[in-house]
Amino acid sequence: MERVRTGIIGLDELLEGGFPSGRAMLVSGGCGTGKTTFGVQYVYAGAEKYGEPGIYVTLDERPSLIREDCLNFGWDLRKLEEENMLQIIDGAIARIGIPSDEEFSLPSTGFDVDKLLIEILTSIKRYGAKRVVIDSIPSLGYNLKTEHEVRKALLKLGYLLEKAGVTSILISELGDGKNRFSKYGVEEYLVDGVIVLHYMGVGMTSNRTLHIRKMRGTKHSEDLHPLEIGPRGIVVHRIEEEYGES
Ligand SMILES: Nc1ncnc2c1ncn2[C@@H]1O[C@H](COP(=O)(O)OP(=O)(O)OP(=O)(O)O)[C@@H](O)[C@H]1O
Ligand SMILES: [Mg+2]
Repeated sequence: MERVRTGIIGLDELLEGGFPSGRAMLVSGGCGTGKTTFGVQYVYAGAEKYGEPGIYVTLDERPSLIREDCLNFGWDLRKLEEENMLQIIDGAIARIGIPSDEEFSLPSTGFDVDKLLIEILTSIKRYGAKRVVIDSIPSLGYNLKTEHEVRKALLKLGYLLEKAGVTSILISELGDGKNRFSKYGVEEYLVDGVIVLHYMGVGMTSNRTLHIRKMRGTKHSEDLHPLEIGPRGIVVHRIEEEYGES
């Protein structure tokens, strides 16, 4: 199986080399667990290190703020955009009905999943994108009324991304109750891999963790791994490294 290097330091070793190529992954977690950083690092590394163009679809945060925050990690997204190695699609502002001044955006005349899919597919074709991130699924589904509509939209999204041949990350939030890895409780079944990010909020250091919950066709780590958001982005550790072997 062909692998796609994630660009998340320490993660590929836990995944037999990276994500299975051409598949969709779910990255889920509570607020502030590092989902957006994870997603941006994936497309940034793809473009900068591996020569693979990427698309970042932001439905929550304004692109200008993402660009600004990423400079703290030394990631110059603007430069990659100018080189056509990265497209940031702004769906955030259309959701509140205001026109965006971004080059790639949805019309402010109402948010529509199909319009967004067309925008994504057009961009994939035009720029030969290999990596796509959708941040986030709950925002994609926010104006869908029934679970049936949400499921249909997600199935369509998954199908089209796979058909386009990209390796994608769908970002979601953790739902309520037991065994729910995503907002709607259906996302995890539509994807080939699930990575869950946690923020424990106890102790002085290392209270962030990453857990690979599933990765089809891969013998993966089943441990809870300490995760650090450092000056160069996300680094995943092994528990032995962190606490020493005893
Ligand atoms: N430059 C930085 N250095 C270290 N840690 C940072 C830096 N920038 C952000 N962080 C940490 O990352 C957290 C936010 O990460 P991120 O935005 O990726 O999370 P998220 O899961 O997408 O959050 P949300 O649920 O709000 O979308 C911050 O709360 C902060 O703790
Ligand atoms: Mg986020």
